[in-house]
Amino acid sequence: MEQLLKQIGQHKKEINASTAATKDELEAFRIKYLGTRGLVKTIMGEMKNVATENKREAGQLLNEFKIFTEAKFEELKSTLGGDAVEEAGTIDYTLPGDELPLGTRHPISIVQNKIMSIFQTLGFAVAEGPEIEDDWHNFSALNLPENHPARDMQDTFYLNENPAWLLRTHTSSVQIREMQKGKLPLRIICPGRVYRNETISARAHCFFNQVEGLYIAENVSFADLKQTLYFFVQEMFGQDVKVRFRPSYFPFTEPSAEMDISCLICGGSGCSVCKKTGWVEILGCGMVHPKVLDNCGIDSNKYTGFAFGMGVERIAMLNYQIKDLRLFSENDTRFLSQFKAAF
Ligand code: DAH
Repeated sequence: MEQLLKQIGQHKKEINASTAATKDELEAFRIKYLGTRGLVKTIMGEMKNVATENKREAGQLLNEFKIFTEAKFEELKSTLGGDAVEEAGTIDYTLPGDELPLGTRHPISIVQNKIMSIFQTLGFAVAEGPEIEDDWHNFSALNLPENHPARDMQDTFYLNENPAWLLRTHTSSVQIREMQKGKLPLRIICPGRVYRNETISARAHCFFNQVEGLYIAENVSFADLKQTLYFFVQEMFGQDVKVRFRPSYFPFTEPSAEMDISCLICGGSGCSVCKKTGWVEILGCGMVHPKVLDNCGIDSNKYTGFAFGMGVERIAMLNYQIKDLRLFSENDTRFLSQFKAAF
């Protein structure tokens, strides 16, 4: 008991002489004396060694010591004041928090999601494939055999180590992979990034995104293709937009077409975006070439199908009236944060 008295006396002296000039020093004081492993707690633990007849007195003593130490802490704290106190363990939880900036969806994702959801309402399922492709899936199976001049329609990145591999130039390669699975009828859309060795400019990039579509069943006709794409355009751009189909050439479709919509910028009267024609091309399409079906083991006498492919950046540029495609890949948040996803 006497020893305890002596101990407490010494500690009190020490505590009395303590100062705290900074919030760190104040926190050090708190930890040293009032923390879970601090002196007050440790000394309280001594109670168990005190003889029963002295317990009452010792209890009072220890309690007083605790109150003394807490009072000193409060005193030190009040002399420090302000911000320092907050950080020393007494945060004011009623203060409003700092606002965290929320990210926004990328405009290309917004547009791609919208394209996909329109086709999904028509029963198209989403299918994906690899960005590094082999020559067969990207070209040969799509009726573009080696040395076919139409291979030059797209400038391809080949892999240095093995030129049999390449970065896919279109998501048409996913068509092939899905057709090979042999489950018919087949109704899919294939979104994804594609690569072409093009000089980067306001209108071209060495990578961009496409959405490819494919429908294969019995008795699929060009009328089905037109109706599907017409529905898409109206959902995407509104009821007033006009469409037209122009004959075109793709090795993997026969007949082939390109679809234009009336210019959304000038409403068809002619501007720089539509090069004064009133129309802008948005996609390529056609009836799947029988050779392509055969290449994938599908009976071209029994089944027919249509396919189409569109560039997501092109649609986004029209949708948001953006004139420079490079903005999409420069990661400038001042540009990117302007787009709000509707879903
Ligand atoms: N693959 C073509 C391209 O990248 C787009 C395309 C055109 C896809 C016609 C098709 C299609 O499925 O039928 O330019």
